[in-house]
Amino acid sequence: MTVVKKCLFPAAGYGTRFLPATKAMPKEMLPIVTKPLIQYGVEEAMDAGITQIGVVTGRGKRAIEDHFDISYELEHQIAGSDKEELLSSTRDIMERCTFSYTRQVEMKGLGHAILVGETLIGREPFAVVLADDYCVTEGDGVLAQMVKLYEKYQCSIVAVQEVPKDETYLYGVIEGDLEADNIYRVRNMVEKPAPEDAPSNLAIIGRYILSPDIFDVIRSTPPGKNGEIQITDALQLQAQQGRVIGYQFAGRRFDCGSIDGFIDATNYTYKAQTK
Ligand code: UTP
Repeated sequence: MTVVKKCLFPAAGYGTRFLPATKAMPKEMLPIVTKPLIQYGVEEAMDAGITQIGVVTGRGKRAIEDHFDISYELEHQIAGSDKEELLSSTRDIMERCTFSYTRQVEMKGLGHAILVGETLIGREPFAVVLADDYCVTEGDGVLAQMVKLYEKYQCSIVAVQEVPKDETYLYGVIEGDLEADNIYRVRNMVEKPAPEDAPSNLAIIGRYILSPDIFDVIRSTPPGKNGEIQITDALQLQAQQGRVIGYQFAGRRFDCGSIDGFIDATNYTYKAQTK
């Protein structure tokens, strides 16, 4: 049985909705209370048993690498104080995970960013996390739920969520047949459809398990919406062969790439931590 051992974080986008905060700082380093978004994503991957982390970065993203590294001066400074505990979560990550990085030189879309990550993944199934989709769950994390499904289905899996019809233009939207509780066999997918063109209200959010042939498929995928190479267009080819599952996951997702979602996530997390 093939297991998922690696997780890719495409993190090369400009994050223009958060300017000026993201002028010199990666969007993925924006904190929800005290932890940066990407750390939540890495913790979700660890919760799914994944410890090999690959990050597709771009210019101005070095803070991500520094975050998952030792900071000698700082750690020396707080050693023996009660502040030391505040770094225990990052220390735990660094002890258990390996990190590798590559750069997307031109921002040609999410599909292209994933293809750039091929050098970090090789020829095996892998998870993809878009760190600005922050997910909270009661039990298993979303990736852990999806990894379990992969063991059964052995094909690409996209996490989906119901969205209001008038918001379909923000997402990739699937059309599929219900195969089991919360599980759809995807037949068709459309990137950012207008409400009248949307095949359903099931939108793809930033969690994927991809089968290794996806890289070859992306290579032959022409630019789509906005002139970018879209992962949805590549997945569409696998879907036509019946090789994509849509999974309506258990949990709540905050779109932290938008200001409203980011504020909601902050309030939710602050309340959860202080109650
Ligand atoms: P977004 O659509 O949220 O774009 O990308 P963005 O640039 O991050 O943010 P805005 O819209 O300008 O505010 C979705 C995910 O895909 C990655 C982003 O880093 C983000 O995690 N991405 C997108 C890349 O890595 N490369 C790309 O060329 C495009």
